[in-house]
Amino acid sequence: MEEERENPNPLPHVLIFPLPVQGPVNCMLKLAELLCLAGGITITFLNTDHNHRRLLACTDIENRFSKYPTFQFATVPDGLPEENPRSGDRFMEIFDGLEKMATPLLKKMLAPGGMSKNVNCLIADGILNFAHDVADEVGVPVIYFETISPCGLWACFCLQKLIDSGEVPFEGNDLDVLINNVPGMEGFLRRRDLPNFYRVNDLKNHPLVGKLVLENRRVPEARGLILNTFEELDGPIALAQIRCLVPNVYSIGPIHSYLKSQLAKTQSITSKDSTNSLWKEDRSCMNWLDQQPDKSVIYVSIGSLAVMEKHQVIEFWYGLVNSCRRFLWVRRPNAVIAGGDLLNEEIPDEIKKATEERGCLVSWAPQEDVISHRAIAGFFTHSGWNSTLESIVSGVPMLCWPQFFDQLVNGRMVSEIWKIGLDMKDTCDRVVIERLINELVEEGKREKFAGSANELARMAEQSIMENGSSQSNFKRLVDDIKSMVNVNL
Ligand code: UDX
Repeated sequence: MEEERENPNPLPHVLIFPLPVQGPVNCMLKLAELLCLAGGITITFLNTDHNHRRLLACTDIENRFSKYPTFQFATVPDGLPEENPRSGDRFMEIFDGLEKMATPLLKKMLAPGGMSKNVNCLIADGILNFAHDVADEVGVPVIYFETISPCGLWACFCLQKLIDSGEVPFEGNDLDVLINNVPGMEGFLRRRDLPNFYRVNDLKNHPLVGKLVLENRRVPEARGLILNTFEELDGPIALAQIRCLVPNVYSIGPIHSYLKSQLAKTQSITSKDSTNSLWKEDRSCMNWLDQQPDKSVIYVSIGSLAVMEKHQVIEFWYGLVNSCRRFLWVRRPNAVIAGGDLLNEEIPDEIKKATEERGCLVSWAPQEDVISHRAIAGFFTHSGWNSTLESIVSGVPMLCWPQFFDQLVNGRMVSEIWKIGLDMKDTCDRVVIERLINELVEEGKREKFAGSANELARMAEQSIMENGSSQSNFKRLVDDIKSMVNVNL
């Protein structure tokens, strides 16, 4: 308070608080860096101890952010034992641990005098309702950053409408029935495309549903909602609907390419220097890619949270090998459940041999660089939102194998609306994988996807240029943050 009173033009102070998993942490760090580059804002980024340790071990993040004098990290324990894999199948443990540990710390940080400089605005992940409660108690305005896809978010916002109309829980087992109560998506969204928690019969007692009901109530109460998308992609369907609930939407994506373009203006930086990976990137795959012909490689990754069973790994592997394509496959540590990854003796010789000839396996890849490499023909993806946007920016068609949450909606948008790929959800069969990979990239077939993919890539690029939609929205966000400087004194 003293400091604020003495300084007639204090900088606004923003506390950024992501959900502690790779996708959201990556997005929010990118937002933090964009705000640093915009200037005139003090930023504190709240990481979990666990993630911060991993970022320090796997990236040069400390050095990179030390260039910004108004930026600092803060950390909080996540309440989980070190050996917890923090994977998607244990999402509620991540959430509950964080809520318990972060609530008292946030109270301290947000209270007047709680930090050396008072916080004027909290930017938090939409699912972190407890953070909003704390901010309300001390009168700090909240802006949400929902880092999942807007189309997935919209399907979550319709939870109550779907329950009230009796469309969920589903009656019967037919997952191909069209859904009527997700406005804007009638006619193409099926039961199977809704976020997977909608498939449970006892919705009322599902722990995630309780959090979402709260989130749906709280998001419209915030000052605004930041989304990682661009108007030309999500404007007509998801954003048009979301704006009826939350008029102040800042669509500022694709955030990774926006940040890259801003960094390019200010300093010579390669994307190697700007990774926010929680795993050590194995860049040897870039040399391998350099040796492959143009548009010849299928890139395979299921992101940071999804897990597979052993038999699914085998189906993937046979499907890839039988497609006769070259492939680069990210085999993340801890991504295989039920007894861990395949032992060497469990891998059939024929797939070992084919992999030596035309495959490359890494535990974690520099994905943004991989996707934009000239050798990539298609992306076999779990349809996480960051991965989807990274593929869109590079004009790479996708074969979608969505696993949970927004990923299921994303797969449908990719195949039916944007027409930049195929959706393989609810199947994991080597014959289907082989057929769909070939349909995606085979000469004579791939053109239909490549045309729309390139068009979307062009629109993504325009959105982040001077006067483009995302750049204008970002500037408005910065102005709005700056106008909050005195609201909670
Ligand atoms: C999570 C949820 O699973 C998803 O539903 C939601 O849309 C976003 O948050 P996640 O599994 O983290 O998604 O996937 P995604 O959003 O695609 O993010 C993964 C990030 O990790 C991407 O930015 C990608 O570039 C990066 N990545 C992935 C790497 O850098 N290297 C890899 O080898 C794999």
